[in-house]
Amino acid sequence: MATEANGSGDGLDGELDGELVITGRITTASNATFLAQIGDTAVVYKPVAGENPLWDFPDGTLAHREAAAYLVSEAFGWNVVPRTWLRSGPMGVGMVQLWQDIDPDQDAVDLVTAERLPDAGWRRVLDGTDEEDREVTLIHEDTDSLRRMAIFDVVANNADRKGGHILAMPDGHRHGVDHGLTFHAEHKLRTVLWGFTGDELRPDELAAIDGVRTALYDELGEALTALITPAELDALDARCERLLSRAHFPAPRGHMPAVPWPLF
Ligand SMILES: Nc1ncnc2c1ncn2[C@@H]1O[C@H](COP(=O)(O)OP(=O)(O)O)[C@@H](O)[C@H]1O
Ligand SMILES: [Mg+2]
Repeated sequence: MATEANGSGDGLDGELDGELVITGRITTASNATFLAQIGDTAVVYKPVAGENPLWDFPDGTLAHREAAAYLVSEAFGWNVVPRTWLRSGPMGVGMVQLWQDIDPDQDAVDLVTAERLPDAGWRRVLDGTDEEDREVTLIHEDTDSLRRMAIFDVVANNADRKGGHILAMPDGHRHGVDHGLTFHAEHKLRTVLWGFTGDELRPDELAAIDGVRTALYDELGEALTALITPAELDALDARCERLLSRAHFPAPRGHMPAVPWPLF
């Protein structure tokens, strides 16, 4: 298994081979998730040894799925997933991801009461009632960045796109994180980004999906064979094909809940 960071042209390649030092633990995380430093670079470190076994994802490791998600994100060319790779650390091999400094005043996803519903720039996902019996609506931004993340999630079959897994960057870009529950061969899509359902995919979006599909028969597919199962690789190809032929954002389907819980 390759453990080096594959080049992203950010000049970090040499530095990222250095010693990984744990500086903190991300306490909200369900698995062992650490904040760490490699030289001057802040990273997230999730050792395989700290993963809780999951009955519905019995194959491989969450770390491998996170690394696979990054490779697929790179094939899209949309910079959805921050640079992610496998390497060793003080608690053994795990996934490492570049830390992103978010803007705490921006939210890509929100839960609002009727009087706070914005007029424009947002998409409605679902209506419900909160603990105090008030009518609330789950909304998300109506931006190209989130359209791209929603498309990535359909292709990656992401079972865990919560609000907290969308990082709001100061310049308006949105990164997706926590892709351990991806690439299952069965339909598992669970996301808060249903606001685009039914929208036609744009030519540039279709071209990017087509690019991923082509890459699956080339280097991307080869790299993914070390990270996910052959059945999962076939299913990934089939999801690209289906999305290309339907050319619209899909609607929820199947028996499982379409949104993750909790939502944030
Ligand atoms: N690369 C990153 N940059 C900045 N913040 C991050 C990054 N990855 C995760 N986080 C933050 O840490 C929280 C927990 O990380 P997550 O990947 O969801 O871990 P877990 O798999 O344990 O749930 C996220 O909800 C997010 O707020
Ligand atoms: Mg998480």
